[in-house]
Amino acid sequence: MDLFEKILKNYGPLGQYYKQGHGYFFFPKLEGRISNKMMFRGKEHLCWSLNNYLGLADHPEVRKTDAEAAAEWGFGTPMGARMMSGQTDYHEQLERDLAAFVGKESAYLLNFGYPGMVSIIDAMVDRHDVIVYDAEAHACILDGLRLHLGKRFVYPHSNMEALEKNLQRATKIVEQTGGGIMVITEGVYGMVGDVAKLKEIVALKEKYQFRLLVDDAHGFGTMGATGAGTGEHCGVQDGIDIYFATFAKAMAMIGGFVAAKKEVIDYLHYNMRSQVYAKSMPMPLVIGAMKRLELLKNKPELREQLWTIVHALRDGLRAVGFDMGVAESPVTPVFLKGTLPETTQMIYDLRENFRIFCNVVIYPVVPKGVVMIRLIPTAIHTMEDVNYTIECFTKVAKKLENHEYSHTEYAPING
Ligand SMILES: Cc1ncc(COP(=O)(O)O)c(C=O)c1O
Repeated sequence: MDLFEKILKNYGPLGQYYKQGHGYFFFPKLEGRISNKMMFRGKEHLCWSLNNYLGLADHPEVRKTDAEAAAEWGFGTPMGARMMSGQTDYHEQLERDLAAFVGKESAYLLNFGYPGMVSIIDAMVDRHDVIVYDAEAHACILDGLRLHLGKRFVYPHSNMEALEKNLQRATKIVEQTGGGIMVITEGVYGMVGDVAKLKEIVALKEKYQFRLLVDDAHGFGTMGATGAGTGEHCGVQDGIDIYFATFAKAMAMIGGFVAAKKEVIDYLHYNMRSQVYAKSMPMPLVIGAMKRLELLKNKPELREQLWTIVHALRDGLRAVGFDMGVAESPVTPVFLKGTLPETTQMIYDLRENFRIFCNVVIYPVVPKGVVMIRLIPTAIHTMEDVNYTIECFTKVAKKLENHEYSHTEYAPING
């Protein structure tokens, strides 16, 4: 069979919505400067979809630094991979700053979070080792697992009993193979906003020998007293052996880093294929990340404002009867009782008639059967935004409850 013919028969779990949703529900264009209000299809919308937690994306100091660094260095510098010709004092300085901030000995920059995580997993384990991971781990972790040639065990989301059972199974296996065990979890689960039971996971180290890798994409900059992440929030930062975060959320940029003991980072320098065989991070991004990290550390008021908005939005929606799940991080899910077509129609109503832009999250991004809207509060939202949103959500939820959206024609999109 022709390969193209085959793939075009089945666009996949997300691609199946391509015809109805492309350009509106998927790949929508938000235009203008990154802000709480942005343009969508020519009209201003209050936007709850960006992981710009601290509001750094359009912060004047960030924009100035980005522009100056781009003018001075361009995006070509440095050329080549870090290992060959792309090493600079700036890269090393940023790594020292990141490591110190998250309380680890050393750090290594990643050009992108996703392949970075894939590559960390690939570098850390071989066929003798066993990986034990949370069932709701991010796609980048699952892709890292695809490269793993040894055994892997999955435990139901945050189920500590199942994790322990799997650690017992894994221990038996590595006694035979002579390998080690790596447990992988996210810090904050980015879709429903709950926090991994890091304290309990770390406590299991007293009974079992394993190393813990935490993907803290959504926790870095938002969680913990200083913003150093979910480990700090749970009081077990030292128990995280390998700490990973992306710059794509609170840092409002691209790239990421991994932090651990110096020897482990030295090892990763020579074994992480996504970095060994890839060009070094461009200088403006390195300098831009330094500026963001400086603001993240020195402007706690940004995090405080973020949390003020998070609490106001969450408490307000809960007070009018919404199911807000168990989110403990800024990620704010709103679980809905409607069907997917009804919820889609509700999102359409929110955008077209209330000028609120938010997204519905569906399988396979969340487990089958879950229909939810995911709101991302940020430091640049206002109480006015919060109150308006609660008011509008109350109205549309009533319509959803009265099945008004099931009578409506499917949203006229692509128009
Ligand atoms: C939990 C988690 N890990 C990893 C990534 C990938 O990071 P990046 O966008 O830097 O590739 C994301 C999304 O950005 C994420 O949400």
